[in-house]
Amino acid sequence: MTKSNRKTYIVGNWKMNPSNREDAKTLFSKTNLVASKSKKVTVVACPPYPFVSLFSTRNKPAVRLGAQDIFYEQEGSFTGEVSAKQLVSVGVEYVIIGHSERRAMGDTDEIIAKKLRVALEAGLKVVLCIGENGRDGHGHYLSFVKDQVLSIFKNISKKYISNVIIAYEPVWAVGKRYESALKPSDIHEMSLYIKKILSQIYDKDDAMKVPVLYGGSVNFENAEPILFDGEVSGLLIGRQSLDIEGLSKIISYANKL
Ligand code: PGA
Repeated sequence: MTKSNRKTYIVGNWKMNPSNREDAKTLFSKTNLVASKSKKVTVVACPPYPFVSLFSTRNKPAVRLGAQDIFYEQEGSFTGEVSAKQLVSVGVEYVIIGHSERRAMGDTDEIIAKKLRVALEAGLKVVLCIGENGRDGHGHYLSFVKDQVLSIFKNISKKYISNVIIAYEPVWAVGKRYESALKPSDIHEMSLYIKKILSQIYDKDDAMKVPVLYGGSVNFENAEPILFDGEVSGLLIGRQSLDIEGLSKIISYANKL
């Protein structure tokens, strides 16, 4: 295992959990406590919309505040949607865009590209999810991921690229048994491949600096080898972000990178 100085992100995607405000407050403050002990790691919590404004960042908590999605219009008659500016106004700094569960509900690469643009224009940092639906022995997943990246980023100005974090989440590994997480060596290979694709659009130096995280069935047992041997810049964590003991272990591994 090699040590490095790369900046590390641990992003917790709470999804549609927990079911009430008190539990959300407890989870946020425990996550904050753990985050405050790990100076080297940027810990981001992404609660559901109703809880987001409970966690104003005015008091500068150690854990940074994120949301799980946005809509691609600025304002207007879009029932049920939430804009980037609204999120910024309640202290949100990060937003997840393109999660496979949103794609399954209809988000296409075209929609994701629009969401990415409005989020960046509003000053949000974006955790942009990409990943193939499945793998066969023929390497088709590589061209699938390449097409995703090229079509989502083709109209994104280079001035915004430093606010983008990519979360590589192979869809078939999300929400599965923890043994289903991709092997660290494959994760490392994919992270380099994604940077290489980005360097077709942006300056090589800028492309190489884009943090690539891994997500998909990460828990406290597989997180350490993924972080060290997968050589990623962090993790996007679903279920385990709701379990403070597991999350705390993961953050402490990331702190050792
Ligand atoms: P999981 O979810 O860690 O529960 O697999 C990851 C994600 O959906 O981002």
